[in-house]
Amino acid sequence: MLKSPFVYGVLGVLLISVKSELITVCVEDDDDLRVDCKVASTPNKINSYEFSWSSGNKQALINTNVSGSAAEAKFKGKSDVEELDPHGYRMTLRGFRDSLPHNTTYLCKISGVDAKITVERDQLVPCSAVSVFLKSSCSWMVCLLLFFYHTHS
Ligand SMILES: *[C@@H]1O[C@H](CO)[C@@H](O)[C@H](O)[C@H]1NC(C)=O
Ligand SMILES: *[C@@H]1O[C@H](CO)[C@@H](O)[C@H](O)[C@H]1NC(C)=O
Repeated sequence: MLKSPFVYGVLGVLLISVKSELITVCVEDDDDLRVDCKVASTPNKINSYEFSWSSGNKQALINTNVSGSAAEAKFKGKSDVEELDPHGYRMTLRGFRDSLPHNTTYLCKISGVDAKITVERDQLVPCSAVSVFLKSSCSWMVCLLLFFYHTHS
């Protein structure tokens, strides 16, 4: 079973595409920045989140509930965090364009596990476009899973 290099290649692509979707960044209709962090939290543990961005060697904390650390002053009161289903957190940031660096790496950390993505300022996409993309890549994965199911049964 699973002898062909092709299958490993396909599995690799699948893992990479799933991995790169642990964090997504887009701009909402009302011009708020939305960062979705889908890192799984640890069961039976108090979980914490941390959202930040960095550019060059400067990193700024946007929102966190790690005890003892606090968001940078310019982000205070400008962001909200809500829980996502089945796991993860969504952070929305108002008025982000004033402070957005040109090339920004968005980072999130849930209970010590982090994910990051770099997006250029001009390449931020509207959230409505992202959901279309996710839908098409999901149906692609469903096809693949059906394919595996079929060849192994
Ligand atoms: C952070 O917020 C989440 C969701 O509201 C909560 O479950 C968790 O216990 C909080 N963590 C800390 C360290 O306060
Ligand atoms: C942003 O990143 C791209 C590619 O990573 C690079 O070509 C470009 O020069 C960078 N722009 C700035 C202003 O740093």
